[in-house]
Amino acid sequence: MTAVGIDAIEIWTGKLKLDLPNTFAEKKGEDPEKYTKGLGLENSSFPDVYEDIVTMGANAAKRLMDRKGLTPQDIGRIDVATESSFDNSKPVSTYIAGCLEQVYDGNFHHANKGERKFACVAGTQSIDDAYNWIKAGRNRGRSAIVVATDTALYERGDPGEATQGAGAVAMLISEEPSVVELSTEQGYGSADETDFLKPNQQFPSVDGKRSMQVYLARMREALEDFESVAGKTHPDDFAYIPFHTPFPGMVRKAGLLGYRHMIRDTDVEDELAAEIGRQPREAEFDNWDNYEEAVRAYMDDLKDTEQYRDWYGRVIDPALSLARQVGNWYTGSVHVARTSALKHAAETGRDFTGERLLVGSYGSGAQAEIHAETVREGWKEEIEQLNVDEKLENRYDLSFEEYELVHDVHDHEKETDVEEFTAPSGEFVFSGWGRMGERNYEYVE
Ligand code: CAA
Repeated sequence: MTAVGIDAIEIWTGKLKLDLPNTFAEKKGEDPEKYTKGLGLENSSFPDVYEDIVTMGANAAKRLMDRKGLTPQDIGRIDVATESSFDNSKPVSTYIAGCLEQVYDGNFHHANKGERKFACVAGTQSIDDAYNWIKAGRNRGRSAIVVATDTALYERGDPGEATQGAGAVAMLISEEPSVVELSTEQGYGSADETDFLKPNQQFPSVDGKRSMQVYLARMREALEDFESVAGKTHPDDFAYIPFHTPFPGMVRKAGLLGYRHMIRDTDVEDELAAEIGRQPREAEFDNWDNYEEAVRAYMDDLKDTEQYRDWYGRVIDPALSLARQVGNWYTGSVHVARTSALKHAAETGRDFTGERLLVGSYGSGAQAEIHAETVREGWKEEIEQLNVDEKLENRYDLSFEEYELVHDVHDHEKETDVEEFTAPSGEFVFSGWGRMGERNYEYVE
């Protein structure tokens, strides 16, 4: 059977950054460690005044096409996942195709285009759509470009403000891919929830604490559903587990819950019971009067075991390194996490061709999806061509006052005129409004 999966990945970060512990914490009157240790964040990425979801997505897609030597004829589908769309009818993928047509010979008239919406899980759903299209034999030898692009902004003063971010991930989905093959085994946890939504408004209405509970509940359901097709999971089955990362502190909780689930009825559970001094089942179920407290106490003890800490450091933490520097990219976030894990493997000289990843995506509203991927032989060459570190390093460091101006520029309700902070070079930029309210773009050499 032909393998189908991710053949190449490109990342485009917003060109500005906000330093959370040093610039943001002081103005908010908060302890910097709330951000670095509690939420697990150092910086957020923001778009410069000429950047938006289209420019970031088109710039990531162009880098992908240039690197792989592709022309429009090689692409049969452009799917965009976003929760920052500015048009309820015309999809962002048409704008991105329009940008790319400015710089390549030929066009994408033959390509199917769309826009996927289900909060942050939509990027993974777009990959699924491309996968199914190829597996169904409808691709005529062509590949799909999937772009996950967002400006994840919150109302100023909202608790979510600290977790903002902006950037795009472009992925090429092909037959015989170089980076990872997607498995057919998938699990879902999906329910009608009101944890985070944007009812015809730009900035989200969020029930922050509840959103964390919903994330964990749906993720757990998805893991159980995944096991119903793939069989019982064990913590040693996967080289890395990249999760959707609204902020790394969320993944700290998901990692612990996932580990607790995976060690059930395994040798690890027995070994840890000896270390903790009691069997988890005793702690959880022999204490009906104080069930929740008993579970929490067991989880606290579990979290402090050497075995768990070692596993977390090897399997979960490496997937958080980019998120710490960029914040939440909504639809792109889990794909940033996968990229962090692959970067970690490349930087540590690990050859993990043939090893497996377990990828946990989540979208508010709410749905979690978990699937496995197998690393392919060409992964290292692909990942080593990413220039994300250089792009992160080159971001303009905003003062708090400048941050507020940038936030206003990207607020659809406000008309704010601010000079750009960086000079565009070799990229698509927003160039103004058209006669029907459309946004226009041009390529700057
Ligand atoms: N030193 C160390 N740690 C500190 C600290 C300090 N001085 N001060 C606080 N902390 C810790 C807290 O203990 C807490 O950690 P735990 O949860 O492990 O206890 C953490 O820092 C955050 O502190 P608060 O809970 O006080 O933070 P908050 O109430 O201001 O905001 C939030 C947290 C509710 C998540 C908020 O950031 C938010 O609303 N975010 C947006 C919603 C979101 O991201 N939800 C996640 C799930 S939904 C999803 O995933 C979809 C999506 O992308 C949005």
